[in-house]
Amino acid sequence: MKTPAPTPTPPTLPLVLCGSVDDGKSTLLGRILHDCRLVFADEMRKAEEDSRRYGTQGEAADLALLVDGLQDEREQGITIDVAYRSFETPRRRFIVADAPGHEQYTRNMATGASTSDVAVILVDARKGVLPQTARHSRIAAMFGVRHVVLAVNKMDLVGWDEDAFEAIASDYRRLAADLGLTDVPAIPVCALTGDNLTRRSDAPPWYDGPTLLAHLETVDVEPPAAGQAFRMPVQYVNRPDPDFRGYCGRVAVGTVSPGDRVRVMPSGVEAGVESIVVWRGTLERAARGDSVALTLAPDVDVSRGDVIAAAEDPLEVADQFQTRIVWLGDEPLTVGRPYLVKLHACEVGATVTRIRHRVDVSDGRELAASQLELNDLGVVNLSTSRPVPFAPFDQCRELGGFILIDRVTNATVGAGTITFALMRAANLKWQDFDITGVVRADLKGQRARCLWLTGLSASGKSTIANLLERRLVAEGRHTYLLDGDNVRHGLNRDLGFTEPDRVENIRRVAEVARLMVDAGLIVIVSFISPFRAERDFARGLFEPGDFHEIFVDASIEACAERDPKGLYARALRGEIRNFTGVDSPYERPERPDLHLDTEKLSPEECVELVMRELT
Ligand code: ADX
Repeated sequence: MKTPAPTPTPPTLPLVLCGSVDDGKSTLLGRILHDCRLVFADEMRKAEEDSRRYGTQGEAADLALLVDGLQDEREQGITIDVAYRSFETPRRRFIVADAPGHEQYTRNMATGASTSDVAVILVDARKGVLPQTARHSRIAAMFGVRHVVLAVNKMDLVGWDEDAFEAIASDYRRLAADLGLTDVPAIPVCALTGDNLTRRSDAPPWYDGPTLLAHLETVDVEPPAAGQAFRMPVQYVNRPDPDFRGYCGRVAVGTVSPGDRVRVMPSGVEAGVESIVVWRGTLERAARGDSVALTLAPDVDVSRGDVIAAAEDPLEVADQFQTRIVWLGDEPLTVGRPYLVKLHACEVGATVTRIRHRVDVSDGRELAASQLELNDLGVVNLSTSRPVPFAPFDQCRELGGFILIDRVTNATVGAGTITFALMRAANLKWQDFDITGVVRADLKGQRARCLWLTGLSASGKSTIANLLERRLVAEGRHTYLLDGDNVRHGLNRDLGFTEPDRVENIRRVAEVARLMVDAGLIVIVSFISPFRAERDFARGLFEPGDFHEIFVDASIEACAERDPKGLYARALRGEIRNFTGVDSPYERPERPDLHLDTEKLSPEECVELVMRELT
């Protein structure tokens, strides 16, 4: 059955509402909905009820409660998640992301901005442009918002003073110009009473511009350029039976029809579009925003995270990027630390290889930085663990925007946009040689592996490592022992004990261990390696089963008691800084391959357990 293409939905304007806490965002939105009679009666009754319990407006209904949908927001009086509302006037349909204003909720602001065409920046007439206003405006611009309108709220509280309004407007326009945003209208409003929101107010006789709603109904947003080459990220492969294989996703750019030639990226394999399947049947054409399943002929290999693109104009593939990011993690961004990046439907390992600079949010200055803290904006180089298909963000939001995820907690710790690929690294190719790691290990009559000993200083790692290597060599094995103290005398002599230095220390030793395993050796690594993320990164470098995380466990008290190098005593006296277990954390392995309790077991018994693990 063939069905016609769906009728286009009425023109929709996605917009994001930004402001600091208490600037009145939710009140403004609630007032617009109310004044346009867009509130359902039961919602209004509920808001009136809630107002009596939580409201800040005495007996009158607190209109912010119409949009502050979450229970704890009501109780805290702040908005804590992006609330999406959609409403329609005769001229336009609006989807509003009500971005929260509290400093720690920048993530939701970034999320809201990344899907919006217009930002309404709300400032309190009594406070003017705040650092948070500047931060939100920069984030909005960074995530592709090209149209901004300034709503100066609570004008009644400054007596609708024209000079006060003009001062704020010109302050803001300076900031906007720096972000490349010209033509920023400023509107004096009172969200509480609705002045200049949906109806013209007589209060400021000096203002002759449109109301906020009238402006939003008419602001000219460029439609996506026509004629752009087709791109669709593959979200999943639908294989309900052996005869059908559909590649499902949402068209990000361009259009597609049966018979079109496409290329699957990153592999570059070419095929023809056989059909475009939707739940009702098939389509003759799919365009930007349509969610479809494509079937291809011949049936080439496609997986989640690939992008199906027009054959004559396939998109770029790279593994090194210059990006802009906003850091959202409570822990600072650390160069070299392994994260996951999620770029369209593609999820791969990634590290920041260099922080080029941090951005001063108030004036855009580029500041030198070795870390990015929560809410910082910066320009960084990002390296992915394999080449990924992408488009620069300013060409395509869907294929150039990403988030960074902490590998251990799964929390979103950053959001960013790709500026361009760094070609130098993308041109490096992994060379395949005829003699492989397996051949080299076979020649030695062994299976190569990495035995990774982690634990506090003085937990017994070096003792066990030493005995273990002697035992392996006695059995005719070919080994190498990488020990923290020793490697720090040479390869890693430039590194100290700060968190970024330890991250780099482990990254290097993990890479060296990988090369040695590839050389066919049984490699014993004996490093404190205090962080889970880096140990997980090390594991990821090896084939499953070739990496054994061995937790050499002794309580901090026992280690301090043993203290063979006298370091605990010095650390406790404050003579050594960042000492693991004293003033620097040790993250215990949650699921080690082997757990050795050196307070209960002798070194010989520990070695015995490791040998058993190897068979
Ligand atoms: S790691 O944390 O980066 O894995 P690594 O195993 O290389 O540490 O080095 C630890 C050794 O360095 C310890 O056994 C100890 O001898 C020495 N050391 C010197 N200063 C410190 C410190 N601040 N914290 C931990 N170990 C230290």
